[in-house]
Amino acid sequence: MTWLITGGAGYIGAHVVRAMTEAGESAVVLDDLSAGVTDRLPEGIPLVKGTVLDRELLDRTLAEHGVTGVVHLAARKQVGQSVEEPLLYYRENLQGLTVLLEAAVAADVRHFVFSSSAAVYGMPDVDLVTETTACRPMSPYGETKLAGEWLVRATGRAHGMATACLRYFNVAGAARPELADTGVFNVIPMFFEALTHGRAPQIFGDDYPTPDGTCVRDYIHVADLAAAHLAAARRLAGQQEAGDLTVNIGTGHGVSVRELADLVAEVSGLTKPPAEVVARRPGDPARVVASAALAERELGWAPRHTVRDMVESAWEGWQRRSLRGTEVGD
Ligand SMILES: NC(=O)c1ccc[n+]([C@@H]2O[C@H](COP(=O)([O-])OP(=O)(O)OC[C@H]3O[C@@H](n4cnc5c(N)ncnc54)[C@H](O)[C@@H]3O)[C@@H](O)[C@H]2O)c1
Repeated sequence: MTWLITGGAGYIGAHVVRAMTEAGESAVVLDDLSAGVTDRLPEGIPLVKGTVLDRELLDRTLAEHGVTGVVHLAARKQVGQSVEEPLLYYRENLQGLTVLLEAAVAADVRHFVFSSSAAVYGMPDVDLVTETTACRPMSPYGETKLAGEWLVRATGRAHGMATACLRYFNVAGAARPELADTGVFNVIPMFFEALTHGRAPQIFGDDYPTPDGTCVRDYIHVADLAAAHLAAARRLAGQQEAGDLTVNIGTGHGVSVRELADLVAEVSGLTKPPAEVVARRPGDPARVVASAALAERELGWAPRHTVRDMVESAWEGWQRRSLRGTEVGD
């Protein structure tokens, strides 16, 4: 069977492509390269350049490659931008998913894995977030992910497609430096950027009801996340019946922003200027940590990497990126 991996030239997608093809799965990538980088793809993996909004292109790609399963990662992912441009997010993330599902149903695709996010939960007021914790997204981005899950599950039920919605927590690190995240939207690259420009990394609030007063999150190594996709794809492919699965992909361990700032300073050697505490950001929950029990039970999957692995590999990627930036002058 062949998997269509949308968004496969992206940060997470490129890791998923490698994990799946190295494990012997056959794959074709579709990416509009709005944020993707072709160099991230291993040699020999076909890349179709185009958008998931293009039904004709999807029909052709599914038929030409004999696609029987889809891993759908292509999406816009910036929470702040989604507040300013909700129409863009609803079109790319939800309309794009609708067109893709229509094409998948028409081509009799049997398996569908969807990239969801912990953003579906919003501000959960629980120690460990389980899949039954109430979903109250706080941004248009989170809304498109939650509505996307509804769409995926409903389509699967109606058309006999086995589906899995994977709710990623805070993704970090890289399996190799050239696959590192190139954006500066998450806390680890934000800390690197501040420090390499001689600025103090900012900690937003230290008066939260957490052990050191700073926000606590669940960081998951992108290589572990990619392995979870492989496990989900295989689980769906081995399933006799349709059915849906919605699982958290996190570690179950919380790390505070202060702990992360200390680790970033230690790993990078950039200890000055020290992190500074500034005002809280509106809408930041004190603690968001996954219960990873269901993923372990349903997928036979467990994370293997530590937060230190994530910071070290992200730092290697960051240095490579800075080096390349200097070489090519961008
Ligand atoms: N990075 C995270 O921390 C995180 C957390 C939770 C969920 N997610 C989800 O994981 C998925 C991948 O995220 P990422 O961090 O790799 O982001 P990314 O921006 O690196 O990758 C997204 C890829 O999709 C492509 N793309 C975007 N819109 C497209 C379209 N309409 N048609 C075809 N290709 C399109 C981009 O070019 C890019 O290669 C997204 O669905 C995102 O919402 C990411």
